[in-house]
Amino acid sequence: MPYSFRSARILAQPVTGAEIPEIETVYAGNRELLLLLDRENDPPVLARRFVEHQNLPPRGCRSSLHNLILREPMAGDVIGLMSLYTGYPKGDIAYVGELFLSVEFQGIGLGREAYLSLEAMLRPGPMTRVRVGVGLKNWNALRFWIRLGFMQVTGMSGDRCFGPGRHAFLELQKNL
Ligand SMILES: CC(C)(COP(=O)(O)OP(=O)(O)OC[C@H]1O[C@@H](n2cnc3c(N)ncnc32)[C@H](O)[C@@H]1OP(=O)(O)O)[C@@H](O)C(=O)NCCC(=O)NCCS
Repeated sequence: MPYSFRSARILAQPVTGAEIPEIETVYAGNRELLLLLDRENDPPVLARRFVEHQNLPPRGCRSSLHNLILREPMAGDVIGLMSLYTGYPKGDIAYVGELFLSVEFQGIGLGREAYLSLEAMLRPGPMTRVRVGVGLKNWNALRFWIRLGFMQVTGMSGDRCFGPGRHAFLELQKNL
């Protein structure tokens, strides 16, 4: 089922191949953060992966992956992107793989609005839990998800050694 939603300030729709330059711009604006988060941080590579639905979890199938582009409903400007996988790692868990806003749209409640709209869409079922993976160096996002109620720690992963190019992640969960 293709997911889409409309809230007061956001129109979220499945991304299309024609939108690759706009998706790349969203990633490029967050370049400093991307360098802190993962080994793959090149905006063109990430944009292609997103638009071509290659950002699948292990053994994932494309029909459960929902890559959305977020726009202003009237002006059509791109606010950001969001990725949801339904049924990973268990059938009743929805996994938010990515939520990236363009820098000029950050810090004014749009991330919260996007996530809560997604939650409202999922709540009728069959998903009962939502998970997110957050880079440990991304303290703003940790604060964002915890404030939204992601209080259960379901996993930790990453490098054993410390270093500038090392990364680690926390997986957080919330019941719907
Ligand atoms: C993280 C992100 C999605 C949050 O969306 P947002 O619209 O900027 O955040 P909101 O304005 O909805 O803020 C909601 C809460 O997030 C936290 N937050 C957001 N921006 C913050 C900042 N710059 N510094 C500290 N806390 C921040 C706050 O707790 C805020 O609640 P409060 O205002 O009651 O304190 C967005 O900033 C973003 O895209 N960041 C870059 C990419 C990223 O980190 N994505 C998450 C990957 S897991």
